[in-house]
Amino acid sequence: MMRMRKHRVVTRLNPLPLRGKPESPGVPMMSLSMQDRQAAAAAVLFSTDAATLMRVREPGVQAVIVEPAAHADWQAEVAAAVEGGRFVIPRATLVAPRWESLAHVLESHLPQVGLAFETRLALIDDLVALAEALTAIAACHRLMLRVFTEPPTEHCGFHLDTVAPGCPPYGLLKVYNGAGTRYVDAADVRSMRMFYDYLALRERLVRERHLAPAGQAQALQARARALDAELPFLRPAAPVQVVPAGATVAFRHLDVREHGSNHPSDRAWIHCSPMAGAARLVASFTPLDAAGARQG
Ligand SMILES: [Fe+2]
Repeated sequence: MMRMRKHRVVTRLNPLPLRGKPESPGVPMMSLSMQDRQAAAAAVLFSTDAATLMRVREPGVQAVIVEPAAHADWQAEVAAAVEGGRFVIPRATLVAPRWESLAHVLESHLPQVGLAFETRLALIDDLVALAEALTAIAACHRLMLRVFTEPPTEHCGFHLDTVAPGCPPYGLLKVYNGAGTRYVDAADVRSMRMFYDYLALRERLVRERHLAPAGQAQALQARARALDAELPFLRPAAPVQVVPAGATVAFRHLDVREHGSNHPSDRAWIHCSPMAGAARLVASFTPLDAAGARQG
């Protein structure tokens, strides 16, 4: 069974204290390696206040999860329409030169059917507000939005998201409904070398499964599931945590040039989409220009 734990949503004014660091309480911090000390300072923050998203910029913070105290009625309508198959957004990558222009992009891209007029407008307003928030966090102008409604699949395992070389290493994710995104604490990662070994093996199993005849495909799927249950890059008994649906996550990305190297585990947020359940509306924002850059 996949080890999972739902976190409590609380506002914390400071990064979380270390969980399980150092492994032996009697070992002073000065005796830890640099990599262990960096992992030990790792944190995921929780809040009900959207202003807290900005704290993802602080050293040692991998993610800030903001769940509003109450969800607006229109979000329940969106959830019902997505899960009922009435509102379908084909997977798309949208680019906006500035957050202000995203409303026009979405107005022409989002389907006209499946949502009440006011609900569709509320969704567009919400997405534009997220784009504005990312612009403030990353000090960027140009940004990319990946948006889609799809049921979860077993295609992707745990991973981290990347930005183009030199781009601000932050992004925003909002899953409007359905099963939440799973994640692990950086401090629980044994080493990034072991993480990338897991990632490479999992990607190979998925690739081979798609090419294999039915009998072999089942065996390859079983191996991938066993790998996901084991998560060998984690310390023993380390929990997998879950973001509440409807929460916004500001999270640290990795400069793509570092991907695959044995960098400190607190350099980015290690997460995984759910692999089963109803269709979800997913929106993921990434900056496309360097901090403070001007694009026309
Ligand atoms: Fe991701």
